[in-house]
Parts: sequence; structure tokens; C-alpha cells
Amino acid sequence: MDLFIDSADVNAIETRAASGLIDGVTTNPSLIAKSGQPFHDTVVKICNIVGGPVSAEVIATEHDAMLAQGRELAALHEHIVVKLPMTIAGLATCKALTKDGIKTNVTLCFSAVQGLLAAKAGATYVSPFIGRVDDIGLAGMELIHDMRQVFDNYAFDTKILAASIRHTEHVLQAAMAGADAATIPVAVFDKLLNHPLTDQGLEAFLADWKSAGLT
Ligand code: G3P
Repeated sequence: MDLFIDSADVNAIETRAASGLIDGVTTNPSLIAKSGQPFHDTVVKICNIVGGPVSAEVIATEHDAMLAQGRELAALHEHIVVKLPMTIAGLATCKALTKDGIKTNVTLCFSAVQGLLAAKAGATYVSPFIGRVDDIGLAGMELIHDMRQVFDNYAFDTKILAASIRHTEHVLQAAMAGADAATIPVAVFDKLLNHPLTDQGLEAFLADWKSAGLT
């Protein structure tokens, strides 16, 4: 499974990319706003850091304006993936950009039938928002299971990018359900790596080595 960072914080991305484990990054208008940095400069910097797909979202809501913004974003860097909302205009734009050979990510997906529409529009990625579905008392992970089955039934190439990840268990469950990728907030990515028993175990190994006087 590909691991993406869900952030527009260039420094945070750079430090995690040093692990060599980061395959891509997703941003959204809220994350860009939170970073306080200029949109285009920021996504280009991120593209150069990760050397993999970086989602940058259009702000327009009408098809023609979305198409123009999508083309403008795609021209910024070869790694840009144009992120489009799950609306009629977003899907039409997805189809048009796909025809131009531009990669797309259809976002704000909350049902498997929405995922089916994104796949039919030729999306490179579709982003089911697991955590936000959990937030309204439904089982977000079912989205991944259902989409996996639908995409496999019809051999769609669209990749399932599990999004709105809130904790490490979401990452595990998404991997077990067959998501192609998960986009993970920095704090959750850090928790994937860390375990208190790893720290305790390493400390004990090193202490034993030292007390035996080995070099
Ligand atoms: O980037 C899209 C998605 O991952 C947002 O997550 O936590 O705002 O629901 P969240």
C-alpha cells in the first residue's frame, strides 16, 4: 500500500520523507490555508521533496473554471494530481483532464456509488473519507471494502486512496480492506512507527551490550 502524507506543511513533510517511506502527499484548501503559505509555491516545493504524486485541489465549482484551474495546476509540476470535488462539474472535469493525460483525485467521497462514478469518470484516485463517515455514526471502513469489490468486479484502474484517517487502526484496516493507498496526517504517521515496547527493547539491548563490555 502506498503511504501518502495528508498535509501542506513543507517542513513536516520533508522530515517524514527522509524516512524514504513516503510515496506521495495530499493537500486540500483547508490544509493550504492552515500552512499560511502561497498555494502554487507550496505544492511545487512538496513535489520536489517527495518525487511522487501530490494532490492539489481546484477551488472553482463550475466546469469551465475547474478545467482551467486543473490545467494550470497540472502545468506546475509533473507530479501534480488535480483534486476535484465529487460533483457533476467535478466528474465532468475529471473526465476531460483524464482525456488530456492529467492525473486526478476525486475527493469528498462518502459512498461506494460515488466511488463508482469517479471510476467511470476515469479518476486516477478516489478519496473515501473514512473518519468523517465514522464521525456521523456510520462505519467508514465499509466504504473501502465496498469500493474494492466494485472496482475489482469491473477491473477499474482507479486507485482507492483512504482519506480522513484519524488513527493507526484506520491505516491497518484500510490495508486489510485492500486500499491502494492511505493519506495520513503527520501525527498518525509518527504513531505508525513508534511503539513503547520497541523503545524499551532497544534500551535493554544496548544496556546489556554495554554492561558486557562489548565493542
Ligand atoms: O485531505 C482530505 C482528508 O484526508 C481530510 O481529512 O481529517 O479533515 O476529515 P479530515
